[in-house]
Amino acid sequence: MQQSLTFQINNQKFTVTCHPGTSLLTLLRQLGLFSVHRVCDSGDCGACTVWVNDTPIHSCIYPAMRIANQSVTTIEGLSANGKLAPIQQAFLQGQGFQCGFCTPGMIMSAAKLPVASSEELRLMLKGNLCRCTGYQAIIESINQSRPQMHTDTHRCDIVADSSVTIGKNIPKQDGTAIVTGKASYTADFVPPGLLHLKVLRSPHPHAYIRKINTAAAKALSSVVAVFTHADVPRIPYTTAGHAEPVPDPLDHYLLDHKVRFVGDRVAVVVAESVAIAEQACDLIEVDYEILPHLIDPISAMNGDIVIHDEPESSQIPDRDRNIAGQIFLESGDVEQGFAEADLILENTYNLPAVQHVHLEPHTTITWLETDGTLVVRSSTQVPFHCQRLLSQIFNLPLDKIRVYKAQIGGGFGNKQEILSEDICAFATLLTGKPVQWEFTRKEEFTATNSRHAMTIRIKSGVKKDGTFVAKVVVYPKSTLRV
Ligand code: FES
Ligand code: FES
Repeated sequence: MQQSLTFQINNQKFTVTCHPGTSLLTLLRQLGLFSVHRVCDSGDCGACTVWVNDTPIHSCIYPAMRIANQSVTTIEGLSANGKLAPIQQAFLQGQGFQCGFCTPGMIMSAAKLPVASSEELRLMLKGNLCRCTGYQAIIESINQSRPQMHTDTHRCDIVADSSVTIGKNIPKQDGTAIVTGKASYTADFVPPGLLHLKVLRSPHPHAYIRKINTAAAKALSSVVAVFTHADVPRIPYTTAGHAEPVPDPLDHYLLDHKVRFVGDRVAVVVAESVAIAEQACDLIEVDYEILPHLIDPISAMNGDIVIHDEPESSQIPDRDRNIAGQIFLESGDVEQGFAEADLILENTYNLPAVQHVHLEPHTTITWLETDGTLVVRSSTQVPFHCQRLLSQIFNLPLDKIRVYKAQIGGGFGNKQEILSEDICAFATLLTGKPVQWEFTRKEEFTATNSRHAMTIRIKSGVKKDGTFVAKVVVYPKSTLRV
């Protein structure tokens, strides 16, 4: 049941009604305080740090009900009369940020730290994660905010005259927006009537979907649409943001009758709130025919289990052995090189999967303009590839699709994958309404194209002086067919 709540934010009084389970982070964002960023939603990263009565807290794990009659400060409240607070000025001067997604939380924590050595500051800031900067510029910025700790390294010469910038450090154009919390990332925009999308994901690594019962989900109040593979066009495509002709296998569908990894998409719910959409996903019943699965690339090449067995996947280079692509490169006389080598080393290296962990999750908001143009606001690194792909999937002319990115909170290549725009666009085309899909951190780890695990065999020929004279990089047993 909703409860009434009165409090202050940045010296302004608010009275709202609020569900007891709401986090302070959610409430602040509902009130338009978009500097408070959702990253882990579990108290681990510090991007959502605000002050409650002058004490920094992680607002994602702080119940909103606890701020009754209390005072909250966000970074929007730090500067006064257009003048930056010393800590904001120091971050701006020291360029203590890159994408800026961690910066509001970082500054709200840093402002309350005692004067300390750089080493101590690093420890004290362990609750605030930054994926971009390497922390050096952050620590130096904090030191810059304390006159007694000035180090002057890495300071950025602010150059006003663009004709004299060569050879100088120049500040990021969006620096002031970042340190004041005004930088607008994809989720920091709420078109009227915005709906929210959530995806039911597979608990199985490999299975056919025999049947899906969505009746209970559809019956839930505030659910606007539920759809499955039976409701979407079945067009194979690649999610990779590469130019035509795409070098990648067309091994992806909006939704399919088969799942191929834990976290693969099964069904989609569009509802008036994230909470209702998640609740509706839990009500969907799926009957799976569980298939045997693979977890390492070497056994995958035996071909005992074929992951893409559908006829449309015939363009996959060696579908029967699960080989998505092959590259053959040769340069020089390798045998001659090995003959000249003083030492030959040969080893197999197994590398684990690596996640990019951009702090801003994959987020897309889609809507239709009055002239029918599909607008896609997305945290993408490849807006033009995204536009082309959506045009192909939905058979829409390019000039009827506008894809644009807002400020992006890190990508590191993972946002060169088109992973959220396709389904979000379909939901808008189906409902005619604005729709937002923001990945959870769990989805980032389980359902995005992290750098996959690798097994690499490398044979190197080396001279005594350390010069490499020959190198061969192959899969073990040279199992590839030419
Ligand atoms: S600590 Fe709150 S979003 Fe990470
Ligand atoms: S600047 Fe810290 S996460 Fe990008």
